[in-house]
Amino acid sequence: MARVLKLVGIVVGAVVLLAAVGAAALYAWTGAELGKKVALPTHEFRAPTDAASVARGEHVVRALVKCGECHGADLGGQPVVDDPAIGRVVATNITRGQGGVLATYSDADLERAIRHGLAKDGRRLVVMPSNEYQFISDEDLGAVIAYLRTVPPVDREVGPQKVGPLARALFAAGKFPLFPGTEVTHLQAPVPSVPVDSTVAYGKYIGDIGCSGCHGRTYGGGAIPGGPPEWPKPANLTPEGIGHYSLADFEHILRTGTRPDGSKLDPFMPIGATSLMTPVEVTAVFRYLQSLPPKPFGTR
Ligand code: HEC
Ligand code: HEC
Repeated sequence: MARVLKLVGIVVGAVVLLAAVGAAALYAWTGAELGKKVALPTHEFRAPTDAASVARGEHVVRALVKCGECHGADLGGQPVVDDPAIGRVVATNITRGQGGVLATYSDADLERAIRHGLAKDGRRLVVMPSNEYQFISDEDLGAVIAYLRTVPPVDREVGPQKVGPLARALFAAGKFPLFPGTEVTHLQAPVPSVPVDSTVAYGKYIGDIGCSGCHGRTYGGGAIPGGPPEWPKPANLTPEGIGHYSLADFEHILRTGTRPDGSKLDPFMPIGATSLMTPVEVTAVFRYLQSLPPKPFGTR
């Protein structure tokens, strides 16, 4: 009996030791990844300051690219996730107030953060969806920055990033895109603007910068990679999923969050933003989605 107990003790001890070594290795490797810097040659980016650009920027931020979903309605920053396993991931204060980056970031620094996912010192930003924002046109990005510079300053310190054990393990296993900007090609070519019209081309533009992050690049929907299991699964927006909707049905959903059968969408779908889309934008996105090849649910 004593021998068996001793053996059990050795096995348990070995498992605990292995787990400790594994955790230390995981923290060392992910810690190095979190500290890694990317050198991006500086290039000029200048945002306009005129009233029309500020107004366009406000619309793009509120209705299309939804910065407030993570950075807070006042853009003063907030935790996006606060969970012992996943960590405390905070979206930065992006106003001119105390604790915010706007006062010290040039237009070029903001372009680097938004489209390339890199902080001023080259650190890769966690969770910031530059994989979508790389497609924002120069003109719209200029307008976004013009608007951000007019937002009332918010004095708020959001604190440091704390990436938890589960998020690190999922990242190490390739299951969680901790640095979405890694997908960005960092091409520094100008991004031309797409004429604002109810066309498939403009619908694709809006989808790329404002819907694909949740619904997937191919719009087949399904669980958001790395998201906690309680998050609802974004719907299949290809004709296989919503091909039976008319433009009026689609517009009703985006404005009210209610399907034609009266059922309510989960509030994870950002109706507060889509309800601000113009009829031209809604029509463009509808036409684009209807033009896509049908995909089974879950093909992101
Ligand atoms: C899905 C959530 C999310 C959305 C949406 C989002 N951000 Fe972020 N953003 C973050 C997080 C989280 C950070 C902090 C990353 C870090 O410090 O590693 C961040 C960082 C930033 C930074 C860099 C701050 C720094 O320390 O260098 C800027 C600038 C920024 N975001 C601007 C924007 C703008 C503008 C938009 C809308 C076009 C936007 N973000 C939309 C999550 C988001
Ligand atoms: C923050 C993530 C997120 C973004 C961004 C987002 N969606 Fe969604 N969407 C969801 C989720 C989650 C659902 C499923 C809600 C449910 O099951 O109740 C959904 C459902 C929908 C539906 C309802 C389909 C049905 O079941 O009838 C439509 C239509 C839709 N989204 C269109 C869009 C469009 C268009 C955009 C971009 C302009 C967009 N969504 C952006 C998360 C998102």
